[in-house]
Amino acid sequence: MNLSSLQQASSDRVNSTLIQTIKALPGHSERLKHAMEYALLIGGKRMRPFLVYATGKMLSVQEKDLDGPAAAIEAIHAYSLIHDDLPAMDNDDLRRGHPTCHIQFDEATAILAGDALQSLAFEILCDYPLSSELTNKRIELVKIVSQAAGYNGMCGGQAMDLEATDQSITQQRLEDLHSKKTGALLSACVEMVIALAADITPTSQQYLMNFAKIIGLAFQVQDDILDVISDSAVLGKPQGSDQAQNKSTYPAMLGLEQAQTYLDDLHQQALQALHALPYNTHMLVSFTNFVIHRAY
Ligand code: IPE
Ligand code: IPE
Ligand code: MG
Ligand code: MG
Ligand code: MG
Repeated sequence: MNLSSLQQASSDRVNSTLIQTIKALPGHSERLKHAMEYALLIGGKRMRPFLVYATGKMLSVQEKDLDGPAAAIEAIHAYSLIHDDLPAMDNDDLRRGHPTCHIQFDEATAILAGDALQSLAFEILCDYPLSSELTNKRIELVKIVSQAAGYNGMCGGQAMDLEATDQSITQQRLEDLHSKKTGALLSACVEMVIALAADITPTSQQYLMNFAKIIGLAFQVQDDILDVISDSAVLGKPQGSDQAQNKSTYPAMLGLEQAQTYLDDLHQQALQALHALPYNTHMLVSFTNFVIHRAY
């Protein structure tokens, strides 16, 4: 299987779980339900589910046991994007080529849709059909996602991002900020699969988590670079949003060229971490190259 066919297969699989999950919600607030569906299902590269399925394939975890983690992480991601776009945060009006959730609906509905998608992620982890020998892992999956989404992960990183706006911070602080706001959810993808895998040595776990940490940071560095060099039609979100708001980003801190050099360095580090693993890392190598070179 090549990268694009696994990408397509992962997207199809996670979309089918997400569609079924939304469909099963009762109809007492159609507006909220539509807002959740809108944020979850209109576009998105599905990189996090891809990372779940690709890592799972490498570690011989059954696909059906990965469906919950893939859907849960995408629900958290969609929630994070709704809130990230709100006027109180980045105040953006375009996401995935469409009006942001608060523009399409209204601010209160967007806030609630984010909240409800967050809860939905944990509901999915608690309820999805899991092989009987793995059911004792549910609590660990919940813990991984809650840590990655909360104060020690995405929310903490978003708070650091807001605090760093219009400010000058150290490169160390920027790395920590990016690793939390974006890296934590990507690391959680790998961590959940490790939790479900049989027979993975502590050393391999360490290499794999190190890979996840590097690629999580690299993901946001490329996102920062794309904000400068791409255009809104390709990105599906407003180009130049970081500059307009005077955000702390790698290009703002180092200049575009040095930010690119830093990204190239992370690229090599990620490949080295994969190289150290005693598995067929072909798909994760392709994923890494995609994350670094993606145009949107
Ligand atoms: C955008 O994430 C926000 C970041 C964390 C950088 P993605 O680039 O994965 O967004 P979608 O899901 O493809 O829209
Ligand atoms: C967002 O970072 C990270 C999240 C936790 C959502 P950005 O603010 O750079 O993401 P985009 O560029 O709006 O997608
Ligand atoms: Mg932001
Ligand atoms: Mg943003
Ligand atoms: Mg960005």
